[in-house]
Amino acid sequence: MNLDSYNAIAQQWEHHRVQLSPREAQVLPLVTDGLAPQSTLLDLGCGTGRPVAAFFAAGGFRIVGVDQSPAMLALARRRLPTHQWLLGTLEDFPPIDNVAAVVAWDSLFHVPRDRHADIFRRVRQTLPAGGRFALTVGGSEHPAFTDVMLGHTFFYDSFPPGQVVALLETAGFRVVHQASLNDPDGARDKGRVALVAAAA
Ligand SMILES: C[S@@+](CC[C@H](N)C(=O)[O-])C[C@H]1O[C@@H](n2cnc3c(N)ncnc32)[C@H](O)[C@@H]1O
Repeated sequence: MNLDSYNAIAQQWEHHRVQLSPREAQVLPLVTDGLAPQSTLLDLGCGTGRPVAAFFAAGGFRIVGVDQSPAMLALARRRLPTHQWLLGTLEDFPPIDNVAAVVAWDSLFHVPRDRHADIFRRVRQTLPAGGRFALTVGGSEHPAFTDVMLGHTFFYDSFPPGQVVALLETAGFRVVHQASLNDPDGARDKGRVALVAAAA
């Protein structure tokens, strides 16, 4: 469902998702804080490369972006052609050398929650001690659901933030920052929380 939907909306997404929100812009610098220029950042669910990968590329970091959607990746490749763009999934991304930091920004919640612990373990194996992993998750307790965006249906699932923190700790991370990006409204908006974790 999500693959077909993202392929279908890629051109619209290009104009829909352009800038980081002020809250995102406060959180994302924590991911690469202290890293040497040219360090490699793995962006899982990179989309079109804008605005997240573009933010890190502008900071001098090398991006390896992974996404399931060829149409989204094509836009990322065109935007940032000197970086690396791989067709793949969060659940089964290929081994990548010398990754210093990882982001899964607005992508993990498209994966069924029973796969999240395995993804956290793989991300931990990819990072050196101290390496940071930033992700967004749903902001409240809710069952998996579908919703329509830009005329197409998308699947969403997430543990509530407290359970995500526990899973990250089990996978070998320590959560160093947590911030609400938008608060749940008790109806359609389940909320969205950013977490930054450091590999123990
Ligand atoms: C909401 S967009 C976010 C894009 C970008 N990270 C951002 O913050 O603007 C979600 C992206 O995650 C990708 N995605 C969703 N599920 C995925 C999966 N299981 N594996 C890889 N990519 C996935 C989609 O194709 C889409 O490009």
